[in-house]
Amino acid sequence: MTETAARDGLPVGPSRIAVIGAGYVGVPTAAVLADAGHDVVVAERDADRRTALAAGRSPMMEEGLEELLARTLASGRLRFVATAAEAVAGARIVVLCVATPTGPDGRADLSDVDVAVGEIAAHLASGAVVVTKSTVPVGTTERVARLLARPDVHVASNPEFLREGHAVADARHPDRVVIGADDPAVADVVASLSRDSDAPQVITDPRTAELVKYAANAYLAMKLSFINSMAQLCDALGADVGVLARGIGLDPRIGPSFLTPGPGWGGSCLPKDVRALQSIAADAHVTVPLVDASRAVNDSQADYVAERCASLVTSGLDGAVVGVLGLTFKARTADRRDSPALAVVRALLARGARVRAFDPTVAPGCADADLAGIDLAGSADAAIEGARVVVVLTEWPEFARVAWGSHRPAAVLDTRGVVDVGAAAAARWRVAVLGRPGS
Ligand code: UGA
Repeated sequence: MTETAARDGLPVGPSRIAVIGAGYVGVPTAAVLADAGHDVVVAERDADRRTALAAGRSPMMEEGLEELLARTLASGRLRFVATAAEAVAGARIVVLCVATPTGPDGRADLSDVDVAVGEIAAHLASGAVVVTKSTVPVGTTERVARLLARPDVHVASNPEFLREGHAVADARHPDRVVIGADDPAVADVVASLSRDSDAPQVITDPRTAELVKYAANAYLAMKLSFINSMAQLCDALGADVGVLARGIGLDPRIGPSFLTPGPGWGGSCLPKDVRALQSIAADAHVTVPLVDASRAVNDSQADYVAERCASLVTSGLDGAVVGVLGLTFKARTADRRDSPALAVVRALLARGARVRAFDPTVAPGCADADLAGIDLAGSADAAIEGARVVVVLTEWPEFARVAWGSHRPAAVLDTRGVVDVGAAAAARWRVAVLGRPGS
């Protein structure tokens, strides 16, 4: 390391770190850094969120996060403040964790990055390192440096690969650390953020680091669209996609993960980043047909699932009650942003179905706009009762324990492979599993 960094007066040991943005990335990142001995100050504009966090309450469902918050808040090494200017005062490392949502044209909207940079520019200590963890288009590190207009401050890219629901574990034990910095001494400083991890480091220029993040999510999306296409093919041919996934996944060149078919890939990252990568490629006049195809396959998956539901109801979906199990984009999170479950619900509603849904993270009285048109049930049993067809859209473990025998048998389509098929069939339910024969 760190000789170079020490020589240049850059921070190397435990540091005063500012984290800008207390979202899905900022909070676990800050808490893990504080737990590793750094002195961390987080800037969060939203007063309610800030108050909850300062009291140790996590605004998001993340395993182990509240325990970690309690420990690090008690140690005094984690604090929440209202302004970015306050957070960066005296900080040697500043980590940008603000949101970069999809803009109207599919490009990442950098407004929050620009605002944060504007707020911190005059308050940064000389020699500070500003690190971008937010997923940002190629060239953003240079843009941040330009906007800061502080030649005495360093800027680097350090994309995050945290999965929702596993963010604490992923922040603590990353499978790799990607650092984009033009100056090796600055890369050393960024590497000091992960000094407790023995993960391989990929140290490169900022542009490559920024692109690695988009390429990773696009590759995952491509793998998922591939297996979802194979599930459709298995449905048509009477083959078994579970066995197919194992049969290809045991080849180490392919690997077994991200080969479970489902109602499509969603969440706040994959869809946003795939769209952003398409824009980045278009701006560079490069075609990325595999990325385009991955998205097109995903865009049609909800209709495919709705059609499979329709095929299980002899009189069609118009006016039929459909019991939906699961609304979040995956299990172990309360997040419904870009949820494929909601895309399926919309496809069912468009076919005239009456949707009665249960999700363990959604209260029956919830009036959120994305749930319009859904009759919310307070339990899986209540969603199932009297339904013509039930469709499982999120892999909540409790859906494996549904008491099918307590309901009048109908049909169930399991898009996630979680239903206890033997139990449901024994209770005379007609069971269809996406990509599996016998339905
Ligand atoms: C994703 C990436 O996995 C993280 O590495 C990345 O850091 C993060 O985006 C981000 O950019 O911040 P996440 O959004 O939490 O993480 O979601 P995933 O676990 O990747 O799942 C994405 C979607 O694929 C979900 O709808 C999930 O249900 C679906 N999926 C996943 C499947 O249908 N089958 C699988 O085998 C795996």
